[in-house]
Amino acid sequence: MSAKLLDGKHIAQDYQRKIAMQIKQRTSAGLPQPGLAMILIGKDPASEIYVANKQKACQAVGIHSRVKTLSANIDQAELLTEITECNQDKAVHGVLVQLPLPAHIDTTLIIDAIAVNKDVDGFHPFNIGRLAQARPLFRPATPMGIMTLLNANDIQLAGLHSVVVGASKIVGRPLALELLTAGSTITICHRATRELAHHVQQADLLVSATGKRDLISSEWIKPGAIVIDVGIHRLANGKLCGDIDFTSACERASWITPVPGGVGPMTVTSLLQNTLIAAEMQAS
Ligand code: GUN
Repeated sequence: MSAKLLDGKHIAQDYQRKIAMQIKQRTSAGLPQPGLAMILIGKDPASEIYVANKQKACQAVGIHSRVKTLSANIDQAELLTEITECNQDKAVHGVLVQLPLPAHIDTTLIIDAIAVNKDVDGFHPFNIGRLAQARPLFRPATPMGIMTLLNANDIQLAGLHSVVVGASKIVGRPLALELLTAGSTITICHRATRELAHHVQQADLLVSATGKRDLISSEWIKPGAIVIDVGIHRLANGKLCGDIDFTSACERASWITPVPGGVGPMTVTSLLQNTLIAAEMQAS
């Protein structure tokens, strides 16, 4: 078997073209340009790249974006003041604090401070609660992007056994809720899971969101499974790769996301979609 590609790069381009058109129509009709405020704390190299990519994508579709870069030693109260200012700014429709945060900052408190109707990351307990109730408002970007990618390829999820490896609040947990809403049966594996290979072998749809290379062996992949790789790693030769060995996984899977060009571009696209939704909601 040679897996078909879930080509996030091309699908993201299609969606971003549509978002750009919608924004052009809005601004031509005299409605304000959607605005996204991002807060980046410290000098985490991966976070710097992610935020730069988000900024570039905003510019490409006509979303006004601004990035406030704050020192890693910032006081929690000061950060809360920044968030309050963004919450109150009428030109800002979406507010995003790039994670992870320095250890002295309480991430939960920071996420809770973001206005629910500007929470384009979908991490606020209100938005996670809405997702858990299968009536989402803002959906976390990576899981939302994965669902868009599956839908765009007409992959039917009802009745499939989905195994999500990794239970983070950003990817694994909300993705399990998304897949549940789509009618699949869910197993979530995490650090304390025993017999990981046994669970992975049951997966009709397998998601690796572990951030660890080669934790999941391609030999465990059920023939014909759909494989979604959320991991991204830079090799010594400078190339990027996912959590799972792509070449050997292609021999067993029916569909697979490449890295790069799979989940990553869909994540950014979801953030743009959410920012447009936020601007629409705040205008009405
Ligand atoms: N860090 C890794 N992924 C994300 C994301 O989707 N949003 C934010 N704010 N931080 C992240």
